[in-house]
Amino acid sequence: MKTLICTLLLGLCAGFVQAAEKDKSFTIKFSHVVADDTPKGQGALLFKQLVAERLGGRVQVEVYPNSSLYGDANELQALQNGDVQMLAPSLAKFSQYTQQLQVFDLPFLFDDLDSVNRFQKGAKGRQLLSAMEKHNVTGLAYWHNGMKQLAANRALIRPNDAAGLSFRIQPSPVIESQFAQLGAKAVKLPFAETPNALRAGTIQGTENTWSNIHSQHYVEQLPYLTESNHGVLDYMLVSNTQFWYSIPHAIRMELEDIIVEVTYTVNQAAEQQNQNDRQKLLAGGKAQVTALNEAEREAWRGAMRPVWQQYEGEIGADIIRAAERANRSSKSLASY
Ligand code: LMR
Repeated sequence: MKTLICTLLLGLCAGFVQAAEKDKSFTIKFSHVVADDTPKGQGALLFKQLVAERLGGRVQVEVYPNSSLYGDANELQALQNGDVQMLAPSLAKFSQYTQQLQVFDLPFLFDDLDSVNRFQKGAKGRQLLSAMEKHNVTGLAYWHNGMKQLAANRALIRPNDAAGLSFRIQPSPVIESQFAQLGAKAVKLPFAETPNALRAGTIQGTENTWSNIHSQHYVEQLPYLTESNHGVLDYMLVSNTQFWYSIPHAIRMELEDIIVEVTYTVNQAAEQQNQNDRQKLLAGGKAQVTALNEAEREAWRGAMRPVWQQYEGEIGADIIRAAERANRSSKSLASY
């Protein structure tokens, strides 16, 4: 009799636990470092909106832009600790977990975002989304920002114009070496600290996309912009692996569908957003934009290119070749 009562009670408890699990709701804190009116800022807000429309009650998304919750220095640690559930750091910010993603930082590897897109959609690109699983970081998608331009307090037309300047960079060894090739100093600084460093004059240059240059008002101190398109700044949307797979299957599938939709929208809009910000910078009257001609571009390519060989071992020759192929196919497609 006693055994029967115990069994019944245990069954009842299990039923309650299952029902509670079924109705459990989730909060996704999505922290990022840029302004709302940028490709990533817009993507985060669209994600929040679609989740509210389709999963309201079960999943709630809170977006924290402009490093208002966590910044470059601590956001990945916060993700691993479970203090935030979603981030979209630049691909240049993962080198502590995997060196392979540094392929995206190699200068003059990709001519344009279409080439970047082809690589990300190919086998190697998709494989890189899971390169950090053992660190409890799951890649969910790539989001574009755009191609990087140079900004400085003096005109940068030839590579040796950069010699002697201190450039704020993202924390990527490849980018550090790229500036070393120019005889310049590279200073790894969190994004949110860059405006202060510029005001203090401790840095005299940087590289970034039109959208970040515009939204962070870099031209106040760095009015000389060189349209170099020498590299890419893209993001990986990531979650805490344990958290992600703890979400019930049906809800997770819905979230993944939403991510596909948001990724499509972000990636369609990013180039246009950057071009709009380029126009605003030109119209603002403070920026002096120099577009490099082919010979000048070739000189920058020649100066920065040795970095490829330097990092081939760490990144993997197979990954670099796959990226090159994705880039080459843009030329063959364009020529038809
Ligand atoms: C930077 O640090 O310059 C960028 O990674 C910021 C961003 O998220 O676009």
